Amino acid sequence: MSMLIKNGEIVTGDSRFFADIFVENETITAIGIDLPIPADCEVIDASGKFVFPGFIDPHVHIYLPFMSTFAKDTHETASIAGLIGGTTSYIEMCCPSRLDDAWEGYQLWKSKADGNSASDYSFHMAVTKFGPETANQLRKIVNDGTASFKIFLSYKNFFGVEDGEMYETLRLAKELGVIVTAHCENAELVSRLQSELIGSGKTGPEWHEASRPESVEAEGTHRFATFLANTGATGYVVHLSCEPALKMATDAKANGTKLFVESVIPHFLLDKTLAEQKGVEGMKHVMSPPLRDARNHERLWNGLSAGQIDTVATDHCPFDLSQKLLGADSFTQIPNGIPGIEDRVNLLYSRGVCTGKIDLHQFVNVASTNAAKIFGLFPKKGTIAVGSDADLVIYDRDYRGKISVKTQYTNNDYNAFEGTEIYGRPWIVTVRGKIQVHNGSFVGEKGLGRFIPRKPQYF
Ligand code: URP
Ligand code: ZN
Ligand code: ZN
Repeated sequence: MSMLIKNGEIVTGDSRFFADIFVENETITAIGIDLPIPADCEVIDASGKFVFPGFIDPHVHIYLPFMSTFAKDTHETASIAGLIGGTTSYIEMCCPSRLDDAWEGYQLWKSKADGNSASDYSFHMAVTKFGPETANQLRKIVNDGTASFKIFLSYKNFFGVEDGEMYETLRLAKELGVIVTAHCENAELVSRLQSELIGSGKTGPEWHEASRPESVEAEGTHRFATFLANTGATGYVVHLSCEPALKMATDAKANGTKLFVESVIPHFLLDKTLAEQKGVEGMKHVMSPPLRDARNHERLWNGLSAGQIDTVATDHCPFDLSQKLLGADSFTQIPNGIPGIEDRVNLLYSRGVCTGKIDLHQFVNVASTNAAKIFGLFPKKGTIAVGSDADLVIYDRDYRGKISVKTQYTNNDYNAFEGTEIYGRPWIVTVRGKIQVHNGSFVGEKGLGRFIPRKPQYF
């Protein structure tokens, strides 16, 4: 069965035009004006609507043992929530702890996804220790199609690596031609500041930000960039949250360091006063790096529009209120994370494009195309072109609504963006030509998604 999407306004990272899109066997096979309608073809009238390439979330957590609990998601729930919001591919962080075996962890993470996702997915492999067997295991993992690593400079003794381990990881990444993504905060400083705050009775969520201030993130970003410069590896800072860290990253880029920057949707829209609320209201908004002083929002939007920030992801990491309350006696025990896979695209469109902070092409680039290029998915994913997968978002720009826990697909009992008005949403979402979402409802096939193997990029 084929599909013809007629009369839509196609918007990619670098073009905008009215045309029909013809899809056969999962792939776009023709784009043109007034394409003929073959027999037995499903025709969709996209008049008045944008047609975007399927959006890509390059940083999500789905299966995640973390902070004495597990992120509250499965590939089924997360992928469906993502699809409702137009995300047709995601890259999950495969995160065994320092105590776990990397290869076994990789198999476990893959098994959780296998057959359970409604959209396509890939992985970043976290390197949480670098022992004698690590290099061989990572070679096998890269050969299996997971061609990017993740390191944490924070979360001491759990996910966090020492500088020597970062060095070894970057050397290997350079040799294998893979990119290294990094959570950049100084683990030692975080741990010392946490102890001091708790020791002086400052135990509530309002102290989370003070335990990981902007300077701690700037130091991590600078150190990561310095290690990249001295190993020749290519890096990607995840969830960059603030002006001082952005300065470190942009200075490094200007000096020739091969570095990409990701920020995540909460850091553009939410600020630290939310986490400063008492009790569980504050805990809902605890993530790391923390929500920052609101003065950073403008800097991040400007960085996005100036091309200093390459991608907008979510760092989707859901914990429900009962899990957040694990930190009732100490902010250091609040599971870190804010979910967002369902809302990222609509928020970026409504609060970025509709306000004129970014244009439509920047929107497509930072939410889809750039991630596809950086992580080796392009041009199968991340654009609308003959030969690309038919991952398409037909976007209803006339929709008006509000984000609410009451209507969300996300498997959680709160939404950090509750009440935010949105000025558009996906009307139809296809994954490789199959309609998965129609008018805000999941209508598709739950196990349709496939693992997307990726090759080293040798930047
Ligand atoms: O708070 C966060 N970001 N939780 C998920 C783990 C991580 O650091 O990405
Ligand atoms: Zn992180
Ligand atoms: Zn993360």
